[in-house]
Amino acid sequence: MSDRHILTAVAWPYANGPRHIGHVSGFGVPSDVFSRYHRMAGDRVLMVSGTDEHGTPITVAADAEGVSPREIADRNNRIIVGDLQALGLSYDLFTRTTTVNHAQVSQEIFLGLLKNGYVFPQTTLGAISPSTGRTLPDRYIEGTCPICGYDGARGDQCDNCGNQLDPTDLINPVSRINGETPRFVESEHYFLDLPAFTRSLGDWLDSRRGWRPNVLNFAKNLLEDLKPRSYTRDIDWGVPIPLDGWRDRPDKRIYVWFDAVVGYLSASIEWARRSGDADAWRQWWQSPDADAYYFMGKDNIVFHAEIWPAQLQGYNGEGDKGGSPGSLGRLALPTEVVSSEFLTMEGRKFSSSRQVVIYVRDFLARYDPDALRYFVAVAGPETQDTDFTWSEFLRRNNDELVAGWGNLVNRTVSMAAKNVGAVPTPGDLTDADRALLASTSSAFGPIGDLLARNRQKAAATEAMRVVGEANKYLSDQAPWKLKEDPARRDTVLHTALQAVSDCNALLTPFLPHSAQKVHELLGGTGVWSPAPRVEEVTDLDDGSPYPVITGDYGDAQAVWASRPLPSGTPLSPPTPVFRKLDESIVAEELARLEGNAP
Ligand code: MF3
Ligand code: ZN
Repeated sequence: MSDRHILTAVAWPYANGPRHIGHVSGFGVPSDVFSRYHRMAGDRVLMVSGTDEHGTPITVAADAEGVSPREIADRNNRIIVGDLQALGLSYDLFTRTTTVNHAQVSQEIFLGLLKNGYVFPQTTLGAISPSTGRTLPDRYIEGTCPICGYDGARGDQCDNCGNQLDPTDLINPVSRINGETPRFVESEHYFLDLPAFTRSLGDWLDSRRGWRPNVLNFAKNLLEDLKPRSYTRDIDWGVPIPLDGWRDRPDKRIYVWFDAVVGYLSASIEWARRSGDADAWRQWWQSPDADAYYFMGKDNIVFHAEIWPAQLQGYNGEGDKGGSPGSLGRLALPTEVVSSEFLTMEGRKFSSSRQVVIYVRDFLARYDPDALRYFVAVAGPETQDTDFTWSEFLRRNNDELVAGWGNLVNRTVSMAAKNVGAVPTPGDLTDADRALLASTSSAFGPIGDLLARNRQKAAATEAMRVVGEANKYLSDQAPWKLKEDPARRDTVLHTALQAVSDCNALLTPFLPHSAQKVHELLGGTGVWSPAPRVEEVTDLDDGSPYPVITGDYGDAQAVWASRPLPSGTPLSPPTPVFRKLDESIVAEELARLEGNAP
């Protein structure tokens, strides 16, 4: 193990419904590939996330169904936990924002900001419903955008021109609940003084290296016109404001985004408390050798490259007003905000409401998790918007996973099992043998480098190129024609098996489920690539019990290096690692998609 600490901070999915494959291609698969690679390379990874359960996304869903926000959150938390575990996402802790621990840590950050003078109270105009007297959150209000004239702008932003709005900016504002015109009344809130971070955030962004250009440019542009942003909301579902006169008010809560991003810290602390060393989180947040990588889709950049860093700098006392760190001590800012672009679906935008959607659960009911992981890694929206099509999914699965990698494994293991019953003992190596082994063993350096920089598409493509070389070697050497020369046949088979073992290691971050199978086909025992598990836990501070995703990833055998395959290891005839899909699934899936659409 190295002393390098890597925090993998994965965007927290909203618990307002099940997640679709667009979501997991943004935050899910990339963060897991990255974490698995670093664990194999010997780094100490802490991968945390959870469901994002506060705010209007949840109350809107609850109102629509006529149930409580808690019921919506509990139900979807369980579904999402099951889906992410089934995809093999190896969280050290996947928790939720409704824990007592999370509320305490969110309140601590707020108080630290207040102490250093970076949040301040201010009276604003808030909307209420004249018929019910209830406050109307920004997103519940619709009207015409004052900037672009779009009719369906919301009180928090205009989806047409992308500008952030206040409800009072809208022309002809109406309630989305019942169409009535809201009444605006004075309401007191706390604001985060974002202008006080213009300089410190600029310095931080200037010191970043290796970010995707789109993400860095977007983040820098945000600094051009920072305005104070409301830290609190008129809503009854969220983290209470920890101040006298506010704490017990049922109608004031911390804004959902400002508590959700604190989740990275609260989940790290929860993980440490559960591990038995309550200070263990500090190794990822306060030690000089620690790096923090944040994974998300591009609609989340503003909160990870502006708001959360500002909260951290304010807590640390590093904005224009100075100050000193709060009681947790100085907290590290992100090393990199790793944002992907959007996945579209057969040329259309994913939309749960319009049913242009494939839920993770439905996908995994019909296909294997590694098939989806492979598609996302090799053809996902890493640096540009990318379309998911069923025909391309079928092609990648059948031509690359089944006919490329699966076939190499199958041919090699079955010949060795049939002819020798074990990993054969090699004789003298020829140039061709040596060339293949040099290719596979020297691939770890450059592919590891690509993975460390989150160039996962290039990394997966390069690993599959090495697989192609091994397939070509096997066809050229044709060990099935070497019946008369068993010594040479054994040398070829040993070389090919060693190449399979190396390729399996190279593909393990992408394909953890099949990597475990290939490990076993090569005669290995025990855990090669660990699977996450779901555990029911009690709240550490007397809240309700809940399921978490966690796992024992430290004892796994997978390492990022070529390891000699011992001759004599018994081999059995293999069963196929991947499933070939029938062409007919394309038409079936397209019909399903059309059938869903209204
Ligand atoms: N819930 C948000 C979404 O699904 C992401 C929150 S990320 C966090 O878009 F950092 F704020 F937690
Ligand atoms: Zn607009």
